[in-house]
Amino acid sequence: MAGEPVRIYEVGPRDGLQNEAVAVPTEVKRRFIELLASAGLREIEATSFVSPTAVPQLADADAVFAALPRDDGVRYTALVPNRRGLARAEAAGARAIAVFTAATDAFTERNIGRSVAESLETFRPVLARAGELGWWRRGYVSTAFGCPYSGRVEPAHAVKVGRRLLELGVEEVCFGDTIGVGVPAQVADLAGLALEAGLPIDRLAFHFHDTRGTALANVVAGLDAGVRCFDASTGGTGGCPYAPGAAGNLATEDLVYLLDASGWRHGVRLAGVLEAARFIATALGRPVGSKVGQAGGWDPETGDAVGRG
Ligand code: HMG
Ligand code: MG
Repeated sequence: MAGEPVRIYEVGPRDGLQNEAVAVPTEVKRRFIELLASAGLREIEATSFVSPTAVPQLADADAVFAALPRDDGVRYTALVPNRRGLARAEAAGARAIAVFTAATDAFTERNIGRSVAESLETFRPVLARAGELGWWRRGYVSTAFGCPYSGRVEPAHAVKVGRRLLELGVEEVCFGDTIGVGVPAQVADLAGLALEAGLPIDRLAFHFHDTRGTALANVVAGLDAGVRCFDASTGGTGGCPYAPGAAGNLATEDLVYLLDASGWRHGVRLAGVLEAARFIATALGRPVGSKVGQAGGWDPETGDAVGRG
């Protein structure tokens, strides 16, 4: 219920930048991440140790990770698709990784060149080794609400994949609405089925792309269902190069505004997020696209908008 802690898992430096036409210099990424940490974000997905051919925007992952502060109280995560990615993560000093598969073969085949079953077999040794190292491990189930290649997805099927990830050792399963087609009733269905299937509610997260403007409504449905971790991207950037039609993630500033005004505790400062959103928008050469990024927050004492650029 409102008043309880909610985790905001920031994906701006990874999901936000992986699909941009403009190459963002490593130093800009480092400063962006620094601003996010200063805003109070404590879980930041910093980059991906994937093939530089597949995602050239994140080809500097090793340098980005090496530039991150150590022991500043922030958990910096990186996407890892295979053993090679794990080795790079280890060399770069990572202590948290996310593996990523999907509810549909059609998507994983295009995204990582494997079926869902094959991807899980690839993750098995990766997650086992990360577990031995004492790392935090997350597993994504993309296309949990719909697939750009095969259409409708049964929530029970997405849950089954989430269950397999949990069996492989992940601490958290994150269901992704990769192309932003989901609506609140689906979120409630998926969360309910996940609980029935034995996925503990405190190990679930949601990752909503805001392609059709439903992301915040979906967060509310997730909160109502008892989920307490939501992904968001400062500035509302994001998309997946292998998911045609995927638009930006839910903007962190929109999420923070909603949680603040509704009385949820999360420890993130809206003014700091807006500063980071302006910084990255300037680097990308465009205005901040999110609603709260444009309007600012709101001070109920004075009636004024606050934190606008
Ligand atoms: P592949 O071509 O099948 O891999 O790619 P391979 O094993 O045949 O290797 C081919 C070449 O890639 C080799 O190099 C490997 O060394 C190299 P070569 O010998 O030809 O010079 N390679 C690597 N290099 C660096 N780091 C690595 C690595 N692995 C192989 N880790 C692979 C398979 C998975 C690597 C590739 O398809 C890939 O990197 N895909 C990444 C796709 C991606 O990052 N998509 C976006 C993230 S997912 C997402 O956005 C969804 C999410 O946000 C949730 C949601 O919204 O729902 C998480
Ligand atoms: Mg995504």
